[in-house]
Amino acid sequence: MLKIIEKHRQDFDSRIRSTSTPEHLKQLRIDFLGKKGCVQALMKDLRQATPEEKRQLGKLINDFKQYVENLLSEKEEGLGKSSKDQSSKGESFDTTLPGKKETTGTLHPITQVMEEIKTIFLGLGFQVEEGPEIETDYYNFEALNIPKDHPARDMQDTFYVDGDAVLRTHTSPVQIHVMENREPPLRIIAPGKVYRCDSDVSHTPMFHQIEGLMVDENVSFSHLKGIMSIFLQEVFGKETKVRFRPSFFPFTCPSAEVDIQCVICRGKGCRVCSQTGWVEILGAGMVDPAVFKCVDYDSEKWTGFAFGLGIERISMLKYGINDIRLFFENDLRFLKQF
Ligand code: DAH
Repeated sequence: MLKIIEKHRQDFDSRIRSTSTPEHLKQLRIDFLGKKGCVQALMKDLRQATPEEKRQLGKLINDFKQYVENLLSEKEEGLGKSSKDQSSKGESFDTTLPGKKETTGTLHPITQVMEEIKTIFLGLGFQVEEGPEIETDYYNFEALNIPKDHPARDMQDTFYVDGDAVLRTHTSPVQIHVMENREPPLRIIAPGKVYRCDSDVSHTPMFHQIEGLMVDENVSFSHLKGIMSIFLQEVFGKETKVRFRPSFFPFTCPSAEVDIQCVICRGKGCRVCSQTGWVEILGAGMVDPAVFKCVDYDSEKWTGFAFGLGIERISMLKYGINDIRLFFENDLRFLKQF
């Protein structure tokens, strides 16, 4: 039996050496490892052997089988590679075919609207300012005329960081930072993230606002009306009607809520505007003298207006989006539309 195995090995060696096609290789595998191949035949012969012989010969047959398997797969790999090399040698390459396109991303819709609004205000002579997202109680509330026990604090569900620090609930504290560091006249906008403990179809715990502030001599409510109207007609279209409703904010007096004619139904009344024909778009007003006092501005000499708006709200109305959470789910089917 030893001799037979040795003979098979020599036979296998010489055949695999001369094998140069996958078809031949396949046949070789069948001849040696197939059901009727020589390894199986050796196994069959083994049945007649004594237990001691079975142990020794069985090991030799297994070693031979392993040897055959290894060489076959080595050769298979070699043949596969060289056939690929050959086919690419013969192939011609069409240089006129269009290249593969790289997919490029786009700016997030919120960033796009933010940039659009910034551009409008830059054109109106405003400068862009930034402020910290973690604020102290003083800047977020106190200096904006919202004392500790003021009911207006309930209007905003605050995330407290620790001790005196809060995640800013609005961009209004940037007004204070700017006025502390600069003398009037000034015209600034402050875009950025704000945080409130709130979550449903029209609220997310983080959203974006733009704050605006203009301080100069003789700034009046009509300047506020003019600037707001130009801005809103620029964003929503020249024919958009704008209205001011009396309201209350602790840091402005008088205060107003500004509405635009519903962009969905153009004032006829629909679900978006709760059948009123108008949608609320931002808060604004004349800077309260109490705020000027905090930053040491002489309110006899200087007057100013401020406004604050939510970017998500404006984007939802502009694009007819009914769930604010879509902005933050990173679903490309949604984002690719902008
Ligand atoms: N800070 C207000 C808010 O987040 C918005 C606001 C209203 C800002 C009136 C202003 C303003 O500057 O004058 O609800």
